Amino acid sequence: MPHAPAALQFEPRAPLREHNTFGLPALAQTLVRVASDSDVRRVVDHPEFGRAPKFILGGGSNVVLTKDVAAVVVKVEVKGRRLVAETPDAWIVEAGAGENWHDFVAWTLAQGWPGLENLALIPGTVGAAPVQNIGAYGVELAERFDSLDGMDLVTGRGITLDRSLCRFGYRDSVFKHELAGKSVITRVRFRLPRPWQPVLGYLELERKVAETGITAPDARTVFDWICAIRRHKLPDPAVIGNAGSFFKNPVVSAEQCRDIIGRDPEVVHYPMADGSVKLAAGWLIDACGWKGKTVGRAGVYEKQALVLVNRGGATGAEVVTLARAIQESVYGRFGIRLEPEPVIV
Ligand code: EPU
Repeated sequence: MPHAPAALQFEPRAPLREHNTFGLPALAQTLVRVASDSDVRRVVDHPEFGRAPKFILGGGSNVVLTKDVAAVVVKVEVKGRRLVAETPDAWIVEAGAGENWHDFVAWTLAQGWPGLENLALIPGTVGAAPVQNIGAYGVELAERFDSLDGMDLVTGRGITLDRSLCRFGYRDSVFKHELAGKSVITRVRFRLPRPWQPVLGYLELERKVAETGITAPDARTVFDWICAIRRHKLPDPAVIGNAGSFFKNPVVSAEQCRDIIGRDPEVVHYPMADGSVKLAAGWLIDACGWKGKTVGRAGVYEKQALVLVNRGGATGAEVVTLARAIQESVYGRFGIRLEPEPVIV
């Protein structure tokens, strides 16, 4: 006889400190963990919780909790990973939304399916990766994305979205807008192009090539380089609470950039294909003298001004107070409004 599925646990007033990488204290009005599509359907069909507002939580690596979450917090724990198809020009690989992102990247490499190595060591889960279109060292998730499965939280129906429906942008997707709180991602498929080619255009990777003399690294070597670069300048959330880059790199017009260069010739900037210019937010914040500073129990990381950290026991309000002070000083000096990257609750 098939086993009846274990009853879902709806945990009232559940502490979320362990469920966000900043380590911020907040309570979920209700917390429920889902491990399968049928679990999600049972949440949607639930007589008491079915119609309540939902908040989807993956690894909690991109949220700043400033207050208790007045919703049913759905913690996605869908597991599993497999090769879906192998064609002459790609490997299609799938993973459950609850898989740890970095472990998944390492696993694809071990299986001989390279392509995600530049995205190694990004905290969070597979299901959270498309939400903010994670990117690092010259590769964005959107470039390796095939499609994803999810569930509509109103109808309980399964949905499948291809790349265009996800509407990926710089650290952005439809899941931060129209679909926020309305659907949950359960599985993601990646398209890893064959033959594999390394992406080495990023300055720090060029430096590794020069240092080691390895001009044609394999994917494993690129993976090791990325891990070393990240470990060197980004805090490990298991040790120091943080949510990665706190602000997006702002995009300004060529004219505005010329104006800033006129006053600050050193400003780190990257011309974009459409004529606009992306500025390094970390540089702007650093130039305002914020690196290593502390306000309350929140601080600016010593080695990278773009990362705000929990110095121990910080609240979300303290993090937001610090973020506002940084925004004001960058605006005061450069006339640029920095936009936070994580979702502020
Ligand atoms: N810089 C400073 N001072 C600082 C920080 C940076 O002068 O305190 C300068 C650096 O020297 C560099 C430039 O600013 O010339 C850009 O810095 P970096 O190369 O570290 O990259 P980033 O713009 O700070 C972005 C992403 C990261 C991603 C890296 C590598 C955003 C908001 N951040 O950071 O993504 O890992 O590039 O590709 O796009 C994340 O989103 O959480 C994240 C960590």
